[in-house]
Amino acid sequence: MFEQETIDLYKKLVKEAAETDIGWRHSPVEDWKIDYFAKNFNENNLINFRRTPLVEGVISFPDRPLRKGVRLTQPWLSGLPLWQKIRGIRDILVELYPLNSYFKINLSEVGDSPVGNPCYYSFGNIKITDLAIRMCFYRKYIEKEFKHASNILEIGGGFGGLCLKLMQSKILNPQKYFFTDLPENLALAFYYLKNNNFNVKVFERGQDIERDSGKVVYIVAPWKLKDLNVRMDLFINTMSFQHMTRENIVYYLSEINRLNTKNLFLVNRDGKRDATDLKISEYPIPEKYILSKEEKYLFSNHLMRKYSLIN
Ligand SMILES: C[S@@+](CC[C@H](N)C(=O)[O-])C[C@H]1O[C@@H](n2cnc3c(N)ncnc32)[C@H](O)[C@@H]1O
Repeated sequence: MFEQETIDLYKKLVKEAAETDIGWRHSPVEDWKIDYFAKNFNENNLINFRRTPLVEGVISFPDRPLRKGVRLTQPWLSGLPLWQKIRGIRDILVELYPLNSYFKINLSEVGDSPVGNPCYYSFGNIKITDLAIRMCFYRKYIEKEFKHASNILEIGGGFGGLCLKLMQSKILNPQKYFFTDLPENLALAFYYLKNNNFNVKVFERGQDIERDSGKVVYIVAPWKLKDLNVRMDLFINTMSFQHMTRENIVYYLSEINRLNTKNLFLVNRDGKRDATDLKISEYPIPEKYILSKEEKYLFSNHLMRKYSLIN
């Protein structure tokens, strides 16, 4: 459902992005999306989006085929070849073990949503994916560290995988979730979250969000962040600042600062992969924040950092 509405939103966002000249732009490492989405953002690919390169960069093996050194440009509708499926089950088990040692989990917590037709691994009647395992870890970690968070801002949230898990959290109980990403990903998140039955609205300048009742997810284009005026409880960035230029990070952090966001949760690489990358330890975090916790990320060589606003 909502395919045509999503395609229309994508076109609107791309048009607006071309017309905006504020301090935001497509990150160089994500430039391929501009052409790829323009050619492939159609109804069929949307229905199956988690088996298409529309999610390249957000999901990787074991949720999508491995083809070393080759950029996948065609949808892989038939799913993983058998040998990759076997390797995938091994990888899923290798991830479940540390997750369950860190937090005691119930298998249903790592079950994935069927929206976008993901390549999954069946454990009994539960359909598990690598993405759902990672998002389950983030959800539990965020619940442990931040408890309640009414207003959440996430930047670079992919297609909304973490937003889905956090909106379902009874502990955090978010009421308003502001979701920012590139225009292409905003359209995917709109589709994913709407089909997961959330109340999803596209944020526009002058919108009176105080009047909205119940839980709402707002799709906020990067150039509309400056029109937001909401005190944020929590800002989240997982594996996204690491793909951005200093200019982009400065832009986003200045908005987070302006919104007096109480806590920041960052999970990013402390190293460089592309020439324009910034290490997490070099982020220009505004002076009114202190680093309150740092820990190694459970599944790879990334750092998790928690910053708090100095009162
Ligand atoms: C590796 S994915 C991470 C997705 C998700 N947060 C996760 O942990 O799986 C990086 C995300 O950052 C987004 N991104 C990259 N450059 C961006 C920019 N300049 N502004 C907003 N989002 C950006 C990408 O579109 C993508 O969704």
